[in-house]
Amino acid sequence: MRYAADRPLGLAPATVLDYRELARRRLPRQLFDYVDGGAYEEATMRANVADLEAVLLRQVVMRDVSGRDPAVEVLGQRLSLPIVLAPVGLAGMLAPRAEAQAARAAEAAGVPFVESTVSICGIEEVAKATSAPPWFQLYVMRDRSYAEDLMARAEAVGSPVLVLTIDLAVVGARHRDTRNAVVGEPGRRAKVRRGLDLLAHPRWIATVALGGRPLTFGNLEQAVPGARSPAAFKDWVDAQFDPSVTWEDVAWVRDNWKGRLVVKGVLDSDDARRAVDAGVDGIVVSNHGGRQLDAVPSTARVLPEIVDAVGDRVEVLADGGVRTGLDVVKMVALGARAVLVGRPWAWAVAARGEAGVRHVLEVMEADIDTALGLTGQTSLATLDRSALRR
Ligand SMILES: Cc1cc2nc3c(=O)[nH]c(=O)nc-3n(C[C@H](O)[C@H](O)[C@H](O)COP(=O)(O)O)c2cc1C
Repeated sequence: MRYAADRPLGLAPATVLDYRELARRRLPRQLFDYVDGGAYEEATMRANVADLEAVLLRQVVMRDVSGRDPAVEVLGQRLSLPIVLAPVGLAGMLAPRAEAQAARAAEAAGVPFVESTVSICGIEEVAKATSAPPWFQLYVMRDRSYAEDLMARAEAVGSPVLVLTIDLAVVGARHRDTRNAVVGEPGRRAKVRRGLDLLAHPRWIATVALGGRPLTFGNLEQAVPGARSPAAFKDWVDAQFDPSVTWEDVAWVRDNWKGRLVVKGVLDSDDARRAVDAGVDGIVVSNHGGRQLDAVPSTARVLPEIVDAVGDRVEVLADGGVRTGLDVVKMVALGARAVLVGRPWAWAVAARGEAGVRHVLEVMEADIDTALGLTGQTSLATLDRSALRR
């Protein structure tokens, strides 16, 4: 898949990657890289895209493919498309009140939005922006009372699904963030250059920094002393990620959450079986978009073996590298009930706000429809590996 500079934009964005290019032009470098980058040498991040691109659909013609239906049942909900907007931390730095904007776009498309623990808009604000409450993504922090409080808030707004992210016991090094001095202790020169990067984007300053009030962390305000300062927030988050978390904590969350529970960040069949034993309703096969451990396999690569291991007992979802509706169809054919998309909606909201996210979902829907028609299928619910070339 060709990226950015060598892909001239036409008069209107047509694809997710066009939105990436628009986001690159609009955002300060430090924010674009925060979204766009991955861990270490970014090999896993690239593999997510490349391995999915290498999966081939099996074209089958002259079947009756009228009445194609992309809807699926996921965790007790009917989704118009097998797509979920993945939790993206700090999205509200990309566009004004970005989480609320994206949640509205998701609702219009009939798909769920997952509110990250580390969002700018709090869960109540996002729930108020839509009539379908968001799913809620939780990290189990060192201070368990904090997780309890967040679960109560998610329940109070009617979140039907809790997505417990379990691949952040320690944080992978994201070198782009180090180079941009967003992590580490920046010296005076680095601070000045960061400031200049922001000042070079006056439209971002006017619409997001001034218009969007991004320096509040809606889900963490009570927990983080001085949460209005990004540095205080980061210190708190760093101190709260808990490397001692185990499957017993998943069972603890299970006991404290009445709705559907999904764990996100499984890449291994043994872990998938343990998740099932801990009582979850679903798992997301994910490597955090290649942002955690580099040199682990792409999700497209491990998805089939995980589906074979636990797919008859829990719902298996997947994310990583999905950039088109054809990618969605490939993931579903590999066994995913639905896919999460992270960067696609983050780029789109940065570039064009709610309208951008809506457009990206419309483009994916059109791709899915075409892929169904030309693989001789009418329903995603019955799609399986026979739709792929071996
Ligand atoms: C900028 C950014 C922030 C993210 N923040 C979170 C987060 O707060 N919680 C979480 O569980 N996953 C987070 N993720 C991971 C996504 O939920 C998802 O797993 C990943 O983006 C999927 O890969 P894709 O971006 O290729 O679609 C983040 C990803 C990105 C790109």
